[in-house]
Amino acid sequence: MTKRYFITTPIYYANWAPHIWHAYTSLLSDIIARSKRLLWYKVKFSTWVDENWQKMIQKAQEVGKDVIEFLDDIYHQHISAWEKLNISYTDYIRTTEPRHHELVKKVIKICESKGDIYKGKYEGLYCVGCEGFKKPEDLTPEWLCPDHLKKPEVISEENYFFKLSKYQEFLENLYKSNPSFVYPDFRFNEIKAFVERWLDDFSVSRKWQDFRIQFPLDDSHVVYIWFDALFNYLTVCQWWDEEFWPADLHVMAKDIVRFHSIYWPAMLESSGYPVPKKVLAHWYFTVDGQKMSKSLGNVIEPVEIVEKYGRDAVVFYLFYDIVVWNDWDFNWERFKSSYNSMLLGWWWNLVSRVVSLSQKNWITEWKFDNDIWMKWFVENIKWYTIENENIYSYFVKFIQSIANEFDTKILDELDINSYFKAWYNLVQLSNKFMQDSQPWTKLKDESTKEEWIKDLQFLLYMIRQIGILSAPFLVDWFEKLKNILWNEDLKKINTWKDWWLTEWELKNIFEQKEFRVDLNPWYLYTKVE
Ligand code: MSP
Repeated sequence: MTKRYFITTPIYYANWAPHIWHAYTSLLSDIIARSKRLLWYKVKFSTWVDENWQKMIQKAQEVGKDVIEFLDDIYHQHISAWEKLNISYTDYIRTTEPRHHELVKKVIKICESKGDIYKGKYEGLYCVGCEGFKKPEDLTPEWLCPDHLKKPEVISEENYFFKLSKYQEFLENLYKSNPSFVYPDFRFNEIKAFVERWLDDFSVSRKWQDFRIQFPLDDSHVVYIWFDALFNYLTVCQWWDEEFWPADLHVMAKDIVRFHSIYWPAMLESSGYPVPKKVLAHWYFTVDGQKMSKSLGNVIEPVEIVEKYGRDAVVFYLFYDIVVWNDWDFNWERFKSSYNSMLLGWWWNLVSRVVSLSQKNWITEWKFDNDIWMKWFVENIKWYTIENENIYSYFVKFIQSIANEFDTKILDELDINSYFKAWYNLVQLSNKFMQDSQPWTKLKDESTKEEWIKDLQFLLYMIRQIGILSAPFLVDWFEKLKNILWNEDLKKINTWKDWWLTEWELKNIFEQKEFRVDLNPWYLYTKVE
């Protein structure tokens, strides 16, 4: 049976091109999606833009455009950013699309038929930045919204309300029955504490008339943006792909986790749909210690960095350095050094040295013979040990433990950062082996010929395996590696598309000790960056 996996990013507000932290969320989702494909899941991965925002009208006016023209423009910028970052999404949604309007109107009617929607008056605080209602205890001591550092507006208007209070028990039971519903745990505890206090009903309409979704029970109202936006996840599963619902993972930052883990399951329960399996909330990050904003002039556009350094440099920095649930700051110096010294200096330099030494010395076509090779190792490099273990068995054990943990580390615990650290350790280990065994010195002496051939074979084996383990994140460089190590098995790995290798084939690719590499002859004439 096909294993299915549905992962989503938030739909981002369509007020500007994506910035680096939107890219972070999309890249995190991309790594998970690609990893799942590597493990034979059929992956549905949705993203794009939240367009029904009150602020859009204001934004469009600022640049002298009609709202729809403005939205078209922004969404093209999103497409081009995700293309440059090579985000492997399969589904996309703009909330101005008729299919979405249709679904939202349908579910509002269902909720009403359950007695969950009523007319009332809203009086209180509203943050336009969050498009959310605030309680005094949600604000900073200066009465500002903690995410937008702005004073919420005091509003009073007639609204339709959703009976969230009715779902308190439902939510408490949901949290008990799914103890990893929100990740990480400390965030989940905050959510549980919030729900335990008391849940207020929330407004699902604004008395307004504009391009937004018309409220189906009263045409003098439009649908409140969060009620509309959250249903995007279901819209992409309508009419086709229904079997993907409920979503396996919603990825986002902590700023919108309440909407996803409290409002959203209640809305789904009211409209008769099953709830998602997991919500992942990473931290809300800064740049050089400050919140990123146009007015501070510190907005980092991922497209510019990708054009200069390549997509994988951004991925490596963001996920090697940043622990998903800790406070973090984008630091340019650190970014450049991780690219130059770690990625180019250690990983790619290793590939380049091993490949060019092998080519220069005519190891362009060869085959491992595991038995002979192992025997050779056991007899000849007993002296080469790491933590009292022979390098080969140490390396194989290491590879296997990462490969085994792949599912748990990346996909259950979502601990991408530890996985990256383990991966980079392998790179270091291989460099150390190269440094210690010195094949280039042995090359000069006919009596050590067998040894340098084995050294280089082993190093080629290492870079091949390390390459495979990097396939879901160092996507562009893995493509390059595939072109260099002209190996039939490697060519089959494609984390962008659903991957139709058999389990046996994949196991073989991960574990194969006997394989053939034909170094690409053209590679002799092209330089490794
Ligand atoms: N449109 C809503 C989401 C609706 S989903 C049904 C929205 N949009 S947003 O453009 O503000 O995007 C918020 C998301 O962008 C965050 O949850 C996070 O994924 C990403 N980030 C935006 N700024 C960020 C940081 N400074 N740090 C980390 N992630 C951030 O909210």
